[in-house]
Amino acid sequence: MSPSRRFPPPRALLLLATKAPAVLRAGAAVVLVLLLRILGGSALAADWHDKLAGCLACHGQDGVSSMPEVPSLAGQPDLFTQWQLVYFRDAVRANEVMVPLAQDLSDAEIRALGAHFASLPAADPPAGSDPEPELTATGAKLVAAGRCASCHLPSFAGQGEMPRLAGQREDVLAKALRDYKSGARRGRGNAAMPEITYGLGEAEIRAIAHFLSRR
Ligand code: HEC
Ligand code: HEC
Repeated sequence: MSPSRRFPPPRALLLLATKAPAVLRAGAAVVLVLLLRILGGSALAADWHDKLAGCLACHGQDGVSSMPEVPSLAGQPDLFTQWQLVYFRDAVRANEVMVPLAQDLSDAEIRALGAHFASLPAADPPAGSDPEPELTATGAKLVAAGRCASCHLPSFAGQGEMPRLAGQREDVLAKALRDYKSGARRGRGNAAMPEITYGLGEAEIRAIAHFLSRR
């Protein structure tokens, strides 16, 4: 073994002192990047809570909306919410507010959001006496004749990809029926609602929406 190896000359020591930290710094940077990737992965899974906060600004803190033409989501069947978010993400369901918002939702986030809103208690029907009982009676007849309960359930709580209608905002129900009728709202290859609403007039839509919002 040469003396220079056992006792490195000052010049070699100097080199070590300047280079070693650089090597360490590079190593630390690699470790940091890897750590951030791992943390980033779990942050993504927890991310839906951050996104949820944004949703609640419009859809209501408890998923019950108090904003005109913004639907309540509390108590909606898990699958219904998931499918609508996928439709918005794919812009199959056109809406200038929801389509951009759904763009960066991952499948995992959509599943988490669907389960979250399904777990919340649905909105109570509006308190107080019915201001338009005749409209309610007309709506009840139309809903019976249209066999709406065969898909949306007799309680109108919805099931699977079929939404809850009971307790939904009246303006939201009316807008949905108008949108299906005009073709503005389409599910993916789901012709049921456009067919059902095709023959409905404005007065009938108002009556149906009024009746269902009070269930
Ligand atoms: C700026 C207000 C706003 C925000 C924020 C918002 N939404 Fe919406 N959302 C709306 C409006 C308005 C509609 C009704 C669209 C229509 O009329 O077709 C809607 C519709 C929906 C629907 C369809 C419900 C139904 O009954 O048809 C779902 C599901 C939904 N939003 C989920 C979400 C989720 C999840 C978030 C957060 C990632 C979110 N929204 C954020 C305004 C908002
Ligand atoms: C054959 C099954 C079926 C029948 C019968 C049916 N629906 Fe639907 N309805 C659906 C499905 C599926 C959807 C969701 C479609 C989509 O993805 O937009 C829906 C959606 C709706 C919506 C939108 C709600 C929301 O929050 O977005 C309303 C309102 C509605 N139906 C009302 C009615 C009424 C009123 C009747 C009776 C006149 C009726 N439906 C009969 C299957 C049905």
